[in-house]
Amino acid sequence: MKIGIIGGTGRLGSTLGKIWAEKGYQIMFGSRDPQKAKKFAISIGSNASGGSYEEAAKFGDIIILAVPWSGAKESIKAAGDLDGKIIVDSTTTAAPHLGGTLIGVTPSAAEKVAKWAVGAKVIKAVHTIGVESLTKLQFGSQQASLFICGDSLDAKSKVKQLGLDLGFEVIDAGPLTNARLIEPLAMLWIELAYKRGMGTDIAFKLLRRRKAK
Ligand SMILES: NC(=O)c1ccc[n+]([C@@H]2O[C@H](COP(=O)([O-])OP(=O)(O)OC[C@H]3O[C@@H](n4cnc5c(N)ncnc54)[C@H](OP(=O)(O)O)[C@@H]3O)[C@@H](O)[C@H]2O)c1
Repeated sequence: MKIGIIGGTGRLGSTLGKIWAEKGYQIMFGSRDPQKAKKFAISIGSNASGGSYEEAAKFGDIIILAVPWSGAKESIKAAGDLDGKIIVDSTTTAAPHLGGTLIGVTPSAAEKVAKWAVGAKVIKAVHTIGVESLTKLQFGSQQASLFICGDSLDAKSKVKQLGLDLGFEVIDAGPLTNARLIEPLAMLWIELAYKRGMGTDIAFKLLRRRKAK
């Protein structure tokens, strides 16, 4: 499977791409500065390449949106035709300098992304974890949970596999409108990690008595 990363040179995009490239996926890191992305891709190896946002979007069956919320609409526009693509919206809407959130949840960020990325199948995922934990999702005997939501079952199952490859336990939280429920978890994570002094080595875990269906 091919993955294009919008914001591929950033902290989240570069980390996700590196892990998935090591798992055997073909990755194109997208940047507003394609030379920067190409240079970074060389450091990753033969499964990686670099290009513009449009090239990364064309390349990927799955597109990861890993840009600041303030640049999301513009980045989607720069990505060009996204019809039929699967987009993983991993943005958080945190304001700079821990100043709260830039938007509310009616609608959610992911629903806005779906409106801007015409014809794409949007899945919300990978927004409730710190990049520092992505290579160590096992906390003692507990595996960090990844909440995902989206309207396309096929797209969701592909994104679920990407989550499993990262080492998450993946929880399907329902349709895309449920991004209204799972997006605020990212704000809670930021509050606990940075404002309440817990640090970034924290993750969410869903506990249940019965085994998942
Ligand atoms: N870092 C985390 O732990 C983490 C975890 C979960 C979710 N997130 C979310 O993931 C997204 C990316 O976070 P990040 O930490 O990877 O950020 P980052 O290190 O600042 O990287 C974001 C990348 O987005 C691109 N970009 C596009 N439009 C931009 C704009 N208007 N202003 C600044 N950069 C722009 C830049 O790449 P080019 O200049 O190369 O195009 C930049 O390298 C955010 O929405 C964040 O909330 C982050």
